[in-house]
Amino acid sequence: MLSRIERSSALQWLGKQLFNREDPAAFFDPLLERINPMWVQQYTPARVERIVDETADTKTFVLKPAKRWAGFEAGQHVNICIDIDGVRRNRTFSLSSAPALWHDHGTVTLTIKRLPGGLVTNWMHDHLKAGDTLGLGEAFGDFLVPEISEPLLYIAGGSGITPVLSQLETLAAADYRAPVTLLYFVRTQADIIGAEKLYSLRQNWPALTLNVVATNESEQPRFLRESDLEEVPDITARRCYLCGPKGLMDLAGDLLDRQGIADDRRHSTFFAAAQAALDTDSLGGAVHFSRSDLNVSSEGDAVLLDIAEAAKLSPRYGCRMGICHQCSCKKTSGTVVNRLTGKSSGPGEENIQLCISVPQGPVTVEL
Ligand code: FES
Repeated sequence: MLSRIERSSALQWLGKQLFNREDPAAFFDPLLERINPMWVQQYTPARVERIVDETADTKTFVLKPAKRWAGFEAGQHVNICIDIDGVRRNRTFSLSSAPALWHDHGTVTLTIKRLPGGLVTNWMHDHLKAGDTLGLGEAFGDFLVPEISEPLLYIAGGSGITPVLSQLETLAAADYRAPVTLLYFVRTQADIIGAEKLYSLRQNWPALTLNVVATNESEQPRFLRESDLEEVPDITARRCYLCGPKGLMDLAGDLLDRQGIADDRRHSTFFAAAQAALDTDSLGGAVHFSRSDLNVSSEGDAVLLDIAEAAKLSPRYGCRMGICHQCSCKKTSGTVVNRLTGKSSGPGEENIQLCISVPQGPVTVEL
């Protein structure tokens, strides 16, 4: 029996010799998938062990990745890929379990909320079942627990709690002694994700102060207030972690500014990419996809990933919001504007992320 590494090398060699293919995994994977899904090479297969209801619209998927998966640090994200009606879809989610679960039991969890109109999240809720297999990318992201013990403040909203759950469990297991405060904003008490875990942490880990705020249970919506931060002891000494919808993140950012908390003591992770205000009149242009020898034109703030897909190309992508770099591609000429920062690139050759790059005049991309 060949080992995984031998099998992978043999397939790569065979693919190159017989078919002159640079990416033999893409060629052989459909065959391997039929023989044994856990042999697929392009991504790490992960079997769904069980599915747990968290709230009316949120489920936790307990996954068992193949052993070759490299693991993760608390707070990181993964891309998953899943076939829906014959089309492969990629999405990015945070891991909600602590790395200890992977080390001790070989499992990880993704806690996923249905998004209105969300193709993948709704499909996972409605169709994914125990025993199914999905593809898991390697973990990435720098939303990580501090290296030294210092007071922490977490501000989370809705399903933004998922990487925070992973971090809190990790800190508690390490008997983190510095004070840790979590301000968790949910619509109603029934929308608390990971309630059992959070209340158990509060009971068993004296460092944790948990403050759950229901925003929609009174006549007036109850958002994050300056007084919430003023009530956090020694707020100016805290390292701050923010994860939630854009409105909460913006508000928290303003209030932390007022508290004088420096940028290098803040860590944020978004559900969706923040976007810079762009002058769309100066954007768009002729796009040449050089490998495919395809010319198209673009208008306004369309990003190159959307432009390529509209031209029937299938570039690789993961998060579609500038985090994972899976869509990185070489631009050989022309200028693009970064959709997140509003900054223009230089005119020459460089690697760009297709999902956040908007042409500003004629552009040539190696795709
Ligand atoms: S798809 Fe993740 S950075 Fe572009």
